[in-house]
Amino acid sequence: MITKQNIIEAKNKGNGELFKISKSLNDSRNIVFFLENLGYLPKDFNGDVLMPFVKNNHSKIRYLAVKNLGKIKDVKYADTLLKLALNDSDSTVRREAVSSLGRMRSKENIPKLIKLLNDHDPKVILQAIRALLVFKGDKKVDKSLNQLKEHPNETIQSVIEIEYSSHTNKKLSTLPHKETYSFIKNVVVNADVLDVLKLVPDEAVHLTFTSPPYYNARDYSIYQGYQEYLDFLAQVFEEVHRVTKEGRFFILNTSPIIIPRVSRQHSSKRYPIPFDIHPYLVKMGWDFIDDIVWVKPEASVKNRNAGFLQHRKPLAYKPNPLTEYLMVYRKKTSKLIDWNIKQYDHQTVKDSKVLGEYETKNVWDIDPSFDKVHSAVFPLELCHRVVKYYSFKGDLIFDPFAGSGTLGKAAMNLGRNLFLTEKYKNYFERIKSNLKNATFFDEIKYLTYEQFREEAKI
Ligand SMILES: C[S@@+](CC[C@H](N)C(=O)[O-])C[C@H]1O[C@@H](n2cnc3c(N)ncnc32)[C@H](O)[C@@H]1O
Repeated sequence: MITKQNIIEAKNKGNGELFKISKSLNDSRNIVFFLENLGYLPKDFNGDVLMPFVKNNHSKIRYLAVKNLGKIKDVKYADTLLKLALNDSDSTVRREAVSSLGRMRSKENIPKLIKLLNDHDPKVILQAIRALLVFKGDKKVDKSLNQLKEHPNETIQSVIEIEYSSHTNKKLSTLPHKETYSFIKNVVVNADVLDVLKLVPDEAVHLTFTSPPYYNARDYSIYQGYQEYLDFLAQVFEEVHRVTKEGRFFILNTSPIIIPRVSRQHSSKRYPIPFDIHPYLVKMGWDFIDDIVWVKPEASVKNRNAGFLQHRKPLAYKPNPLTEYLMVYRKKTSKLIDWNIKQYDHQTVKDSKVLGEYETKNVWDIDPSFDKVHSAVFPLELCHRVVKYYSFKGDLIFDPFAGSGTLGKAAMNLGRNLFLTEKYKNYFERIKSNLKNATFFDEIKYLTYEQFREEAKI
């Protein structure tokens, strides 16, 4: 059995000894051990030591041989690597071969790497792109990479977009990231959200959390049909996207709903709202980040089990729906979350830290809340978590469908600014009474649409 010491000694003695050792290895375990422990290779290392292993039947051995070839940076092996990249039966070997070609950082390999951009495996293409980007600025390289803008793979598209899109024609917000416009700070508007948002400039909001009307399941929302409802939501969320700051979050609380049957001759109808609205959101430029499931105690929801409990006939099984979704989206950007965090000063980041216990799972057990005026309110705890996890102190938190204003209350409790819109007067009044006792350093303005329009002009 070969040892690490044997390998170190052979490396010190030179290529002759390495050839001798490599030829003496007659079982796969020993070969793998040798290749895994070759480590840093001497400057004069002869890559031919590795060549027999590149043809081995075991893919792990081929993979390790290819990996070691990449350390040598000798273009003499580029043809071998290209052959493996194009033809090996194992995809990890193919990908490693491209990566080794790239690690050579040799201009001579450019045509080989360009050839690999036509591969059918997106991971091979991405390795080739990475290797070619070292030569960004070279006309041939830029032309070949730009051709991938329309590639069917979304990761490839986005890498090329980030590398080659001209940011010059993008309208940039004139405000620093952590700031917003004073006319929407701590403001509640009694109006249709679509009318209000027309008066709000791009990139003004840090976080939106909302629970929209439940199609026609409650009396405050009457739509002619489900498609009209989805189109309305899509219109609102497109506007929310526009007014959201770069890379910031939008959290949508919905759940499938059931519209009761018209008579015993009909069945009730289910509408999977979160799943139906999701494709619209992705298309308009929201990146899907997470799905959080809010779970309520079984005793708090409507019991649908009575019939089944009695007769136990298959197909008529009806589970009690205890869950709602919080779908977490981020405004599409090439910037990392770190960029967003860096827009804040040290003190704000420190003050906004989520200290102590926090929810580690994507399943949140929270009791529902009930309100004397509004029939479907957020529990305050749900809002507290969202605000704490997805915003900084001083941020502007928006709820386009504010209802009784629970999100506003959470925002104030946690030192954030609020911006709420609510169409119906009785709920608008409820917001006023709900926020009366919350503490905050600023006064809240309660405005009609006309008053808000005047404020927006100033
Ligand atoms: C599910 S409720 C939100 C409840 C809220 N999360 C709370 O904690 O009280 C949805 C709210 O959206 C409001 N709404 C419906 N259409 C609207 C529109 N076009 N503009 C503004 N608000 C609207 C409804 O009146 C309702 O109060």
